[in-house]
Amino acid sequence: MAPWTGAELLALSPLRALWLALAAAFLLALLLQLVPPGLFPGYAFFQDLIRYGKTKLGGVPRPAACRAFDVPKRYFSHFYVIAVLWNGFLLWFLIQSLFLGVPFPNWLHALLRILGAAQFQGGELALSAFLVLLFLWLHSARRLFECLYVSVFSNAVINVAQYCFGLVYYVLVGLTVLSQVPMDGRNGEWSLPYHRPPEGWSSVYVIGKNVLMQARWFHILGMVMFIWSSAHQYKCHVILGNLRRNKAGIVIHCNHRIPFGDWFEYVSSPNYLAELMIYISMAVTFGFYNTTWWLVVTYVFFSQALSAFLSHKFYKSQFVSYPKHRRAFLPFLF
Ligand SMILES: NC(=O)c1ccc[n+]([C@@H]2O[C@H](COP(=O)([O-])OP(=O)(O)OC[C@H]3O[C@@H](n4cnc5c(N)ncnc54)[C@H](OP(=O)(O)O)[C@@H]3O)[C@@H](O)[C@H]2O)c1
Repeated sequence: MAPWTGAELLALSPLRALWLALAAAFLLALLLQLVPPGLFPGYAFFQDLIRYGKTKLGGVPRPAACRAFDVPKRYFSHFYVIAVLWNGFLLWFLIQSLFLGVPFPNWLHALLRILGAAQFQGGELALSAFLVLLFLWLHSARRLFECLYVSVFSNAVINVAQYCFGLVYYVLVGLTVLSQVPMDGRNGEWSLPYHRPPEGWSSVYVIGKNVLMQARWFHILGMVMFIWSSAHQYKCHVILGNLRRNKAGIVIHCNHRIPFGDWFEYVSSPNYLAELMIYISMAVTFGFYNTTWWLVVTYVFFSQALSAFLSHKFYKSQFVSYPKHRRAFLPFLF
């Protein structure tokens, strides 16, 4: 595990700046929920921008102009189609690089440098980034499966800005992981003696010889956490899907009901809590020290906390019998 140095903490690459800005925006949106309705101009537009799905139903009346930008929430599956394809593509480049010594193509290397990928500092492990990218791909594939076969979508909507954000989100997350792969330019020198880089390919190569020798205890811990959180998120999505199915598995309605079981006994949105845990498991896999990834985790924390807060309010406003002990997002706390 590499130590956290002051300089490393302070370096603000474009990717870090982006995740920091997103985290700050969602923290601000969360804090603005404490402001009484109508206290600032554009309150209804602001609420419409941050709400989606069932929470659009339980909030302030929606301006007609906002409804013109509605997109069906079932289009969530598009995000995961892009995520599976794009992150599969990045994973393919990384596998080729790690196991066959093929360098990244120039365009990808240039893109990573623009986004702030640093040269090898010492201590980073190519295996960590490989595992995180693999986890991200598996997560995207499972979510796609859930969208297609587990979840039952109602006529709930998201707005077009949220839709566009969802389309680029997993592209950015994948690039963020790849930008953490340790690379060595060595003044443009191609370092594998038995190979010359093909035309149009970068001479920068991934430091990943003896990848399997890089296995550490935190890779095992991260993997266990990833499997555990993913299993709970899947279970929660099954519970939600079953609320709209009969015992034979046939969809019988599209209403919102009170879910029970698994982590729903503790919080209103355990699927959002599991999402946070999945990203934390990736931070563990990076060996705990990766500042860029902790900024991604911070963004996920505030974005999921905001959605969980709004869902919790929705449930409490719709159901008088809603379990009193249930928190919004974090068991016993929030
Ligand atoms: N990393 C990120 O930035 C990010 C952002 C957003 C979402 N996500 C993840 O994506 C997953 C899905 O997010 P989501 O916001 O769509 O979750 P969600 O609102 O809980 O919805 C999941 C599914 O359950 C249905 N549903 C929700 N509440 C229900 C209820 N009370 N009764 C019956 N059915 C209900 C929804 O249908 P309808 O909504 O169609 O009614 C949808 O099909 C989550 O695990 C979340 O963590 C991640």
